[in-house]
Amino acid sequence: PGDGLALTPPMGFNNWNSTHCRAEFDAAMVKGVADLIVDKGLKDAGYEYVNLDDCWALPRRDADGRLVPDPARFPDGIGALADYVHAKGLKLGIYTSAGTKTCNDAGFPGALGHEYGDARQFADWGVDYLKYDNCHNEGVDAVRRYTTMRDALAATGRPIVYSICEWGENEPWKWAEDVGHLWRTTGDISDDWGSMLSILKQNLPLDRHAGPGHWNDPDMLEVGNGGMTGTEYRTHFSMWAVMAAPLLIGTDLRTATPETFEILGNREVVAVDQDPLGRQGRVVSSEGGRWVVAKEMRDGSRAVALFNESDAPQRITTDAGAVGLPKAGGYTVRDLWQHRTTHTAGGLSATVPAHGTVLLRVAAGSGWAQYPPAVALGLEGS
Ligand code: GLA
Repeated sequence: PGDGLALTPPMGFNNWNSTHCRAEFDAAMVKGVADLIVDKGLKDAGYEYVNLDDCWALPRRDADGRLVPDPARFPDGIGALADYVHAKGLKLGIYTSAGTKTCNDAGFPGALGHEYGDARQFADWGVDYLKYDNCHNEGVDAVRRYTTMRDALAATGRPIVYSICEWGENEPWKWAEDVGHLWRTTGDISDDWGSMLSILKQNLPLDRHAGPGHWNDPDMLEVGNGGMTGTEYRTHFSMWAVMAAPLLIGTDLRTATPETFEILGNREVVAVDQDPLGRQGRVVSSEGGRWVVAKEMRDGSRAVALFNESDAPQRITTDAGAVGLPKAGGYTVRDLWQHRTTHTAGGLSATVPAHGTVLLRVAAGSGWAQYPPAVALGLEGS
Protein backbone atom coordinates (compact mmCIF):
# COMPACT_ATOMS: atom_id res chain seq x y z
CA PRO A 1 0.00 0.00 0.00
CA GLY A 2 2.65 2.54 -0.95
CA ASP A 3 4.36 2.49 2.46
CA GLY A 4 7.67 1.10 1.20
CA LEU A 5 7.20 -2.34 2.79
CA ALA A 6 7.44 -5.64 0.89
CA LEU A 7 9.04 -4.07 -2.18
CA THR A 8 10.06 -7.64 -3.00
CA PRO A 9 7.95 -10.68 -2.03
CA PRO A 10 8.16 -11.46 1.72
CA MET A 11 10.46 -14.36 2.67
CA GLY A 12 10.56 -16.33 5.88
CA PHE A 13 8.89 -19.16 7.74
CA ASN A 14 5.40 -20.07 8.97
CA ASN A 15 4.65 -23.11 11.12
CA TRP A 16 1.24 -24.01 9.68
CA ASN A 17 2.16 -26.45 6.90
CA SER A 18 4.33 -28.53 9.22
CA THR A 19 2.45 -28.45 12.54
CA HIS A 20 -1.09 -27.18 12.04
CA CYS A 21 -2.31 -26.74 15.66
CA ARG A 22 -0.47 -29.70 17.16
CA ALA A 23 1.34 -29.21 20.47
CA GLU A 24 4.76 -29.19 18.76
CA PHE A 25 3.90 -25.62 17.66
CA ASP A 26 5.49 -23.79 20.59
CA ALA A 27 8.20 -21.31 21.53
CA ALA A 28 10.92 -23.99 21.41
CA MET A 29 10.01 -24.83 17.83
CA VAL A 30 9.86 -21.22 16.71
CA LYS A 31 13.18 -20.38 18.36
CA GLY A 32 14.79 -23.52 16.97
CA VAL A 33 13.68 -22.62 13.46
CA ALA A 34 14.89 -19.02 13.90
CA ASP A 35 18.29 -20.36 15.02
CA LEU A 36 18.53 -22.57 11.91
CA ILE A 37 17.48 -19.77 9.55
CA VAL A 38 20.57 -17.93 10.73
CA ASP A 39 22.95 -20.89 11.18
CA LYS A 40 22.17 -22.54 7.82
CA GLY A 41 22.65 -19.33 5.82
CA LEU A 42 18.97 -18.88 5.00
CA LYS A 43 18.91 -15.42 6.58
CA ASP A 44 21.79 -14.41 4.33
CA ALA A 45 19.81 -15.82 1.40
CA GLY A 46 16.94 -13.44 2.26
CA TYR A 47 14.61 -15.27 4.66
CA GLU A 48 13.49 -12.78 7.29
CA TYR A 49 10.01 -13.25 8.80
CA VAL A 50 9.32 -15.93 11.41
CA ASN A 51 5.54 -16.18 11.46
CA LEU A 52 3.15 -17.77 13.94
CA ASP A 53 -0.07 -19.16 12.49
CA ASP A 54 -3.37 -20.07 14.16
CA CYS A 55 -3.60 -21.50 17.71
CA TRP A 56 -1.04 -19.29 19.45
CA ALA A 57 -3.74 -17.75 21.72
CA LEU A 58 -6.09 -18.93 24.43
CA PRO A 59 -9.76 -19.31 23.49
CA ARG A 60 -10.78 -16.34 25.64
CA ARG A 61 -9.71 -12.71 25.87
CA ASP A 62 -8.77 -11.44 29.33
CA ALA A 63 -10.98 -9.15 31.45
CA ASP A 64 -9.60 -6.12 29.60
CA GLY A 65 -10.42 -7.63 26.22
CA ARG A 66 -6.82 -8.43 25.41
CA LEU A 67 -5.61 -11.53 23.58
CA VAL A 68 -3.75 -14.01 25.76
CA PRO A 69 -0.92 -16.20 24.41
CA ASP A 70 -1.39 -19.89 25.26
CA PRO A 71 0.96 -20.38 28.26
CA ALA A 72 1.51 -24.05 27.36
CA ARG A 73 2.99 -23.04 24.00
CA PHE A 74 4.43 -19.59 24.80
CA PRO A 75 5.13 -19.46 28.53
CA ASP A 76 7.12 -16.21 28.22
CA GLY A 77 4.56 -14.56 25.95
CA ILE A 78 4.85 -13.11 22.46
CA GLY A 79 6.88 -10.02 23.38
CA ALA A 80 9.73 -12.19 24.68
CA LEU A 81 9.61 -14.29 21.51
CA ALA A 82 9.75 -11.12 19.39
CA ASP A 83 12.82 -10.02 21.38
CA TYR A 84 14.50 -13.37 20.71
CA VAL A 85 13.76 -13.24 16.99
CA HIS A 86 14.79 -9.58 16.70
CA ALA A 87 18.10 -10.28 18.46
CA LYS A 88 18.88 -12.65 15.57
CA GLY A 89 18.18 -9.93 13.02
CA LEU A 90 14.88 -11.55 12.03
CA LYS A 91 11.28 -10.35 12.29
CA LEU A 92 8.20 -11.83 13.94
CA GLY A 93 4.79 -12.41 12.37
CA ILE A 94 1.43 -13.27 13.91
CA TYR A 95 -2.01 -14.44 12.79
CA THR A 96 -5.64 -13.68 13.47
CA SER A 97 -8.92 -13.64 11.54
CA ALA A 98 -11.13 -10.89 10.11
CA GLY A 99 -14.00 -12.57 11.91
CA THR A 100 -15.30 -13.32 15.38
CA LYS A 101 -13.10 -16.44 15.64
CA THR A 102 -10.09 -17.88 13.83
CA CYS A 103 -10.33 -20.89 11.52
CA ASN A 104 -9.51 -23.58 14.08
CA ASP A 105 -12.43 -25.49 15.56
CA ALA A 106 -11.36 -24.55 19.07
CA GLY A 107 -12.66 -21.04 18.36
CA PHE A 108 -9.81 -18.71 19.18
CA PRO A 109 -10.81 -15.03 19.21
CA GLY A 110 -10.76 -13.10 15.91
CA ALA A 111 -10.28 -9.38 15.48
CA LEU A 112 -13.59 -8.33 13.89
CA GLY A 113 -14.73 -5.38 16.01
CA HIS A 114 -11.41 -5.43 17.92
CA GLU A 115 -9.16 -4.26 15.09
CA TYR A 116 -7.62 -1.19 16.73
CA GLY A 117 -7.02 -2.84 20.12
CA ASP A 118 -5.54 -6.01 18.63
CA ALA A 119 -3.32 -4.10 16.21
CA ARG A 120 -2.07 -2.01 19.14
CA GLN A 121 -1.35 -5.17 21.13
CA PHE A 122 0.57 -6.73 18.21
CA ALA A 123 2.61 -3.53 17.77
CA ASP A 124 3.34 -3.36 21.51
CA TRP A 125 4.68 -6.92 21.36
CA GLY A 126 6.99 -5.95 18.49
CA VAL A 127 5.15 -7.83 15.76
CA ASP A 128 6.30 -7.07 12.18
CA TYR A 129 3.85 -9.04 10.02
CA LEU A 130 0.16 -9.95 10.27
CA LYS A 131 -1.61 -12.75 8.40
CA TYR A 132 -5.31 -11.88 8.51
CA ASP A 133 -7.65 -14.81 7.82
CA ASN A 134 -11.30 -14.95 6.74
CA CYS A 135 -13.17 -17.38 9.02
CA HIS A 136 -16.33 -16.45 11.00
CA ASN A 137 -16.63 -13.18 9.10
CA GLU A 138 -20.38 -12.81 9.85
CA GLY A 139 -20.98 -11.88 6.22
CA VAL A 140 -19.43 -8.43 6.67
CA ASP A 141 -18.08 -7.03 3.39
CA ALA A 142 -14.50 -8.16 2.78
CA VAL A 143 -13.16 -4.83 1.54
CA ARG A 144 -14.51 -3.18 4.69
CA ARG A 145 -13.05 -5.84 7.01
CA TYR A 146 -9.60 -5.84 5.45
CA THR A 147 -9.46 -2.06 5.07
CA THR A 148 -10.34 -1.54 8.75
CA MET A 149 -7.37 -3.68 9.82
CA ARG A 150 -5.10 -1.85 7.36
CA ASP A 151 -6.07 1.41 9.03
CA ALA A 152 -5.66 -0.08 12.51
CA LEU A 153 -2.15 -1.30 11.66
CA ALA A 154 -1.23 2.09 10.19
CA ALA A 155 -2.52 3.81 13.35
CA THR A 156 0.06 1.91 15.45
CA GLY A 157 2.87 3.70 13.62
CA ARG A 158 4.81 0.42 13.43
CA PRO A 159 5.81 -0.94 10.00
CA ILE A 160 3.83 -4.19 9.73
CA VAL A 161 3.59 -6.29 6.58
CA TYR A 162 -0.09 -7.06 6.01
CA SER A 163 -1.06 -10.41 4.49
CA ILE A 164 -4.67 -10.72 3.36
CA CYS A 165 -5.90 -14.30 3.59
CA GLU A 166 -9.40 -14.46 2.11
CA TRP A 167 -8.46 -17.32 -0.25
CA GLY A 168 -9.24 -15.37 -3.45
CA GLU A 169 -12.97 -15.46 -2.65
CA ASN A 170 -13.54 -11.77 -3.36
CA GLU A 171 -10.91 -11.44 -6.11
CA PRO A 172 -8.56 -9.37 -3.95
CA TRP A 173 -6.21 -8.78 -6.90
CA LYS A 174 -8.89 -6.32 -8.07
CA TRP A 175 -9.09 -4.23 -4.88
CA ALA A 176 -6.29 -5.04 -2.45
CA GLU A 177 -3.34 -3.26 -4.07
CA ASP A 178 -3.85 -0.33 -1.67
CA VAL A 179 -5.03 -2.50 1.23
CA GLY A 180 -2.45 -5.25 1.83
CA HIS A 181 1.07 -6.17 0.76
CA LEU A 182 0.00 -9.64 -0.38
CA TRP A 183 -3.22 -11.53 -0.81
CA ARG A 184 -3.93 -15.23 -1.02
CA THR A 185 -5.31 -16.08 -4.45
CA THR A 186 -6.54 -19.63 -3.67
CA GLY A 187 -7.68 -22.07 -1.00
CA ASP A 188 -5.14 -23.82 1.21
CA ILE A 189 -2.21 -25.71 -0.26
CA SER A 190 -1.56 -29.28 0.88
CA ASP A 191 1.58 -31.38 0.58
CA ASP A 192 0.76 -33.21 -2.65
CA TRP A 193 1.36 -32.75 -6.36
CA GLY A 194 -2.32 -32.24 -7.28
CA SER A 195 -2.81 -29.42 -4.78
CA MET A 196 0.40 -27.64 -5.75
CA LEU A 197 -0.41 -27.93 -9.48
CA SER A 198 -3.96 -26.67 -9.05
CA ILE A 199 -2.78 -23.62 -7.07
CA LEU A 200 -0.04 -22.94 -9.61
CA LYS A 201 -2.59 -22.89 -12.44
CA GLN A 202 -4.92 -20.57 -10.52
CA ASN A 203 -2.15 -18.10 -9.71
CA LEU A 204 -0.38 -17.97 -13.10
CA PRO A 205 -3.02 -15.89 -14.95
CA LEU A 206 -2.93 -13.14 -12.30
CA ASP A 207 0.50 -11.88 -13.31
CA ARG A 208 -0.49 -8.35 -14.19
CA HIS A 209 -1.75 -7.64 -10.66
CA ALA A 210 1.59 -8.20 -8.91
CA GLY A 211 4.24 -5.57 -8.30
CA PRO A 212 6.47 -4.04 -5.62
CA GLY A 213 4.46 -3.76 -2.38
CA HIS A 214 1.50 -5.83 -3.62
CA TRP A 215 1.85 -9.52 -4.44
CA ASN A 216 -0.27 -12.50 -5.40
CA ASP A 217 0.09 -15.16 -2.70
CA PRO A 218 -0.36 -18.77 -3.87
CA ASP A 219 0.16 -19.91 -0.25
CA MET A 220 3.14 -21.14 1.73
CA LEU A 221 5.79 -23.63 0.66
CA GLU A 222 5.44 -27.37 1.26
CA VAL A 223 9.09 -28.06 0.32
CA GLY A 224 10.48 -30.69 2.68
CA ASN A 225 7.21 -31.99 4.13
CA GLY A 226 7.49 -35.38 2.45
CA GLY A 227 4.42 -35.61 0.21
CA MET A 228 6.19 -34.76 -3.06
CA THR A 229 9.39 -35.94 -4.73
CA GLY A 230 12.54 -33.83 -4.87
CA THR A 231 11.80 -33.12 -8.54
CA GLU A 232 8.31 -31.93 -7.62
CA TYR A 233 9.59 -29.76 -4.78
CA ARG A 234 12.11 -28.14 -7.15
CA THR A 235 9.20 -27.42 -9.51
CA HIS A 236 7.18 -25.96 -6.60
CA PHE A 237 10.08 -23.70 -5.58
CA SER A 238 10.99 -22.74 -9.17
CA MET A 239 7.43 -21.82 -10.08
CA TRP A 240 6.85 -19.83 -6.88
CA ALA A 241 10.02 -17.88 -7.69
CA VAL A 242 8.99 -17.25 -11.28
CA MET A 243 5.58 -16.06 -10.01
CA ALA A 244 7.25 -13.62 -7.57
CA ALA A 245 5.36 -15.38 -4.78
CA PRO A 246 6.09 -14.93 -1.08
CA LEU A 247 8.62 -17.60 -0.07
CA LEU A 248 7.47 -18.78 3.34
CA ILE A 249 9.18 -21.99 4.39
CA GLY A 250 6.54 -24.43 5.64
CA THR A 251 8.66 -27.27 6.95
CA ASP A 252 10.17 -27.81 10.41
CA LEU A 253 13.80 -26.96 9.71
CA ARG A 254 14.87 -28.87 12.86
CA THR A 255 14.24 -32.13 10.97
CA ALA A 256 14.90 -30.95 7.40
CA THR A 257 17.19 -32.93 5.07
CA PRO A 258 20.22 -31.54 3.22
CA GLU A 259 18.17 -31.67 0.01
CA THR A 260 15.51 -29.43 1.58
CA PHE A 261 18.13 -26.88 2.68
CA GLU A 262 19.66 -27.03 -0.80
CA ILE A 263 16.33 -26.25 -2.49
CA LEU A 264 15.31 -23.46 -0.10
CA GLY A 265 18.82 -22.04 -0.09
CA ASN A 266 19.32 -21.88 -3.87
CA ARG A 267 20.27 -18.22 -4.15
CA GLU A 268 20.06 -18.08 -7.92
CA VAL A 269 16.41 -19.16 -7.70
CA VAL A 270 15.73 -16.80 -4.78
CA ALA A 271 17.20 -13.96 -6.90
CA VAL A 272 14.51 -14.66 -9.53
CA ASP A 273 11.79 -14.30 -6.88
CA GLN A 274 13.37 -11.22 -5.31
CA ASP A 275 14.21 -9.32 -8.47
CA PRO A 276 13.60 -5.61 -7.72
CA LEU A 277 11.62 -4.99 -10.91
CA GLY A 278 8.89 -7.01 -9.21
CA ARG A 279 7.32 -8.65 -12.25
CA GLN A 280 5.38 -11.90 -11.96
CA GLY A 281 6.24 -14.31 -14.78
CA ARG A 282 3.76 -14.65 -17.64
CA VAL A 283 2.78 -17.78 -19.52
CA VAL A 284 4.39 -17.88 -22.97
CA SER A 285 2.94 -21.27 -24.00
CA SER A 286 1.40 -24.35 -22.41
CA GLU A 287 0.64 -26.97 -25.04
CA GLY A 288 0.54 -30.64 -24.06
CA GLY A 289 1.55 -29.93 -20.46
CA ARG A 290 4.74 -28.25 -21.68
CA TRP A 291 4.76 -24.90 -19.92
CA VAL A 292 7.02 -21.97 -20.72
CA VAL A 293 6.80 -19.10 -18.20
CA ALA A 294 9.00 -16.02 -18.55
CA LYS A 295 9.77 -13.37 -15.93
CA GLU A 296 11.29 -10.04 -16.90
CA MET A 297 14.23 -9.11 -14.67
CA ARG A 298 15.55 -5.65 -13.87
CA ASP A 299 18.82 -6.24 -15.74
CA GLY A 300 16.88 -6.99 -18.93
CA SER A 301 17.40 -10.74 -18.71
CA ARG A 302 14.53 -13.22 -18.45
CA ALA A 303 14.01 -16.03 -16.00
CA VAL A 304 12.49 -18.85 -18.05
CA ALA A 305 10.79 -21.86 -16.50
CA LEU A 306 10.41 -24.93 -18.72
CA PHE A 307 7.89 -26.92 -16.69
CA ASN A 308 6.67 -30.39 -17.61
CA GLU A 309 3.25 -31.01 -16.09
CA SER A 310 2.91 -34.43 -17.68
CA ASP A 311 3.78 -37.88 -16.32
CA ALA A 312 6.53 -38.63 -18.88
CA PRO A 313 9.69 -36.80 -19.95
CA GLN A 314 9.13 -34.17 -22.65
CA ARG A 315 11.24 -31.91 -24.82
CA ILE A 316 10.20 -28.28 -24.12
CA THR A 317 11.24 -25.68 -26.66
CA THR A 318 11.00 -21.91 -26.94
CA ASP A 319 13.29 -19.10 -28.08
CA ALA A 320 14.74 -15.79 -26.99
CA GLY A 321 12.20 -13.71 -28.92
CA ALA A 322 9.22 -15.58 -27.47
CA VAL A 323 10.36 -14.91 -23.90
CA GLY A 324 10.71 -11.19 -24.64
CA LEU A 325 14.43 -10.76 -25.24
CA PRO A 326 15.68 -8.34 -27.91
CA LYS A 327 17.31 -9.55 -31.12
CA ALA A 328 20.98 -10.27 -30.57
CA GLY A 329 23.82 -12.20 -32.13
CA GLY A 330 23.74 -14.65 -29.24
CA TYR A 331 22.46 -15.24 -25.75
CA THR A 332 23.89 -16.40 -22.45
CA VAL A 333 21.97 -19.13 -20.63
CA ARG A 334 22.39 -19.92 -16.96
CA ASP A 335 20.79 -23.12 -15.58
CA LEU A 336 19.76 -22.14 -12.04
CA TRP A 337 19.63 -25.71 -10.68
CA GLN A 338 22.67 -27.12 -12.49
CA HIS A 339 24.59 -23.87 -11.88
CA ARG A 340 26.02 -24.11 -15.39
CA THR A 341 26.37 -21.51 -18.11
CA THR A 342 26.04 -22.07 -21.87
CA HIS A 343 25.43 -19.97 -24.97
CA THR A 344 22.82 -20.13 -27.71
CA ALA A 345 22.01 -18.39 -30.99
CA GLY A 346 18.42 -18.04 -29.77
CA GLY A 347 16.87 -21.47 -29.29
CA LEU A 348 16.00 -22.55 -25.76
CA SER A 349 15.10 -26.16 -25.11
CA ALA A 350 15.55 -28.97 -22.64
CA THR A 351 14.35 -32.49 -22.03
CA VAL A 352 12.45 -32.10 -18.77
CA PRO A 353 11.58 -35.05 -16.55
CA ALA A 354 7.98 -35.77 -15.56
CA HIS A 355 6.75 -33.08 -13.12
CA GLY A 356 10.12 -31.35 -13.45
CA THR A 357 11.22 -27.80 -14.21
CA VAL A 358 14.35 -26.54 -15.89
CA LEU A 359 14.83 -22.98 -14.69
CA LEU A 360 17.00 -20.74 -16.84
CA ARG A 361 18.13 -17.16 -16.75
CA VAL A 362 18.76 -15.85 -20.25
CA ALA A 363 20.44 -12.61 -21.30
CA ALA A 364 21.14 -11.09 -24.70
CA GLY A 365 24.81 -11.10 -25.61
CA SER A 366 27.70 -13.36 -24.88
CA GLY A 367 29.17 -11.12 -22.21
CA TRP A 368 29.34 -12.55 -18.78
CA ALA A 369 29.01 -9.28 -16.93
CA GLN A 370 25.71 -9.96 -15.28
CA TYR A 371 26.31 -13.58 -14.26
CA PRO A 372 26.13 -14.73 -11.64
CA PRO A 373 23.93 -11.80 -10.65
CA ALA A 374 25.38 -9.71 -7.83
CA VAL A 375 22.31 -10.39 -5.71
CA ALA A 376 22.87 -14.13 -6.01
CA LEU A 377 26.27 -13.71 -4.45
CA GLY A 378 24.85 -11.61 -1.65
CA LEU A 379 26.81 -8.57 -2.80
CA GLU A 380 23.92 -6.26 -3.59
CA GLY A 381 22.98 -3.79 -0.89
CA SER A 382 25.86 -4.71 1.39
C1 GLA B 1 -6.98 -21.04 7.02
C2 GLA B 1 -5.78 -20.45 6.27
C3 GLA B 1 -4.56 -21.33 6.51
C4 GLA B 1 -4.27 -21.43 8.01
C5 GLA B 1 -5.50 -21.93 8.74
C6 GLA B 1 -5.34 -21.84 10.26
O1 GLA B 1 -7.35 -22.27 6.51
O2 GLA B 1 -6.06 -20.36 4.90
O3 GLA B 1 -3.44 -20.81 5.82
O4 GLA B 1 -3.91 -20.15 8.48
O5 GLA B 1 -6.67 -21.17 8.41
O6 GLA B 1 -6.46 -22.29 10.95
